[in-house]
Amino acid sequence: MSGYGNPNVSAQAQRNGTSSPAKVTLHLGHLPEKGEIKAPYPRSPGRIDPNNPPWPAYRGYHEYSFAHATMHSRLPTILGKAIEDATRTLNEESLEERVVDLAQCIDRMEELMADLSGNAKLRPIVDDGEADVITWNKEITKFFRGKDFMSAPWLFAEAYKYRRLRECFSVSKFWNTYDVFYRQKNDTFSRSSEAVFELAMRFAEPGLISKTTHPNQKELDAQRLIFLELTQVCLWGNSTDLSLLINMTEDQIRSLQSTGGEHLAATEQNILGNDMERIWETVKSIRETKADHRRIDFVLDNAGFELYCDFIYADFLIQSGLATEIRFHGKRYPWFVSDVTKKDWDWLINNMCYGHLFPEASPAEMQALRLLAQRWKQYERDGKWIYEQHPFWCTGYTYWDLHSEAPDLFFHLSHSDLVLFKGDLNHRKLTYDCAAPASTPFEEAIGPMASASGAPKIVSLRTVKSDVVVGLGPDGNEIAKRLDEQEPGWKISGKYAVVLLSEGRPGEPVTFE
Ligand code: F6P
Ligand code: MG
Repeated sequence: MSGYGNPNVSAQAQRNGTSSPAKVTLHLGHLPEKGEIKAPYPRSPGRIDPNNPPWPAYRGYHEYSFAHATMHSRLPTILGKAIEDATRTLNEESLEERVVDLAQCIDRMEELMADLSGNAKLRPIVDDGEADVITWNKEITKFFRGKDFMSAPWLFAEAYKYRRLRECFSVSKFWNTYDVFYRQKNDTFSRSSEAVFELAMRFAEPGLISKTTHPNQKELDAQRLIFLELTQVCLWGNSTDLSLLINMTEDQIRSLQSTGGEHLAATEQNILGNDMERIWETVKSIRETKADHRRIDFVLDNAGFELYCDFIYADFLIQSGLATEIRFHGKRYPWFVSDVTKKDWDWLINNMCYGHLFPEASPAEMQALRLLAQRWKQYERDGKWIYEQHPFWCTGYTYWDLHSEAPDLFFHLSHSDLVLFKGDLNHRKLTYDCAAPASTPFEEAIGPMASASGAPKIVSLRTVKSDVVVGLGPDGNEIAKRLDEQEPGWKISGKYAVVLLSEGRPGEPVTFE
């Protein structure tokens, strides 16, 4: 429609033939001052979208927040180290075509660094043939047009950075599968020898765990204790992820990874929301009621030592008959520094089987590692352990949108008897990464992942490494307030944890509008 004759269009605009609206300035000097009106939270479901989570979003421009520290300092540091890694590889390469190709990848990383440090606007992802391009660009276009690294919600901006990093390599000819974090990921495992052998020497021999699906009371009590301790091993395995380890000494890592019983009893006090007993009752009742097929899913987090702890736990679940099948969900490409890819999965098992990573280990210790790896390989061959990598896990969407954006994945997970989400990022995505009060029940905080028809039972095993904290019970707000006062930084130290269970609505029909 032409703007001519339209009273809302300025005379200048009419003369130019353009149609920008006229500016009218009102003077409101006699009206009352603007009041401080708080938006109602949680937002009603119809008003929630990736730029407007149910409770206020964390954004990089919130100075003095962890979101700001991450966007402003941690991510550029991580990217700088990634550039160093690629440069090291470049210097080792000899063939011209490959050298030139990798140099171009590094140029693209430098561009990303300039965008990140210069707080550029978030541009669409280029079509690099990845399965998630459409999902990414849909989300950017619908919710983040004109937003930059600091003004978009932290979770999205941070995930976007890792997707842009992927793009630096995915468009190349020879370096498409290159992982700039691979060297670092391997290192965490070799630097964890004490805890690695502590567990290997205890669990290498099979048959130590009663296999019967109807154990007597004594066997059941023993299994319960192992289950509770291994749940903690699996949980605390998450506290040593690489994105935060940059400045940690060997001693600090060793103390975080300690697996002794006394240590676990002490660390249980740091589990602020603790559903471990309920989880034990849940897996026990699955075994009692489902005769043939009992499936547990792990939505994995980090490679190396954490993955090793996950394997130990999953091995126990199979040996005890609590599960007959375990599906592991990993990432399709390098993600948040330490997350598991298929290559990391293969590396760990094959190195345990054939590698020489631990020159100081005794022959018995090396044999224990080999026995474990051989058994785990057999689980893979038997289809008891299955690795999967749905593209949705590497998008910027939170899991509130899993049902709508990845219906096939939701449907798939709805067939699981229990889905375990590992780590901090998965927890942020479950809870929409927003400032929900700490007393918010877990089931409310995870929205459709608990309330949608057919939602599976869900557990979050998470050491607290970022702001969102929920599920601390009715006194949660006071607990959080006290910790804020007494231990500033408690939300990013990895010292505290939550182990939370959502009952979901398993068995009900999965529907999509
Ligand atoms: O960069 C911050 C962050 O996303 C935090 O959530 C956490 O500190 C880390 O990176 C990833 O942790 P995790 O590997 O446990 O998901
Ligand atoms: Mg991770």
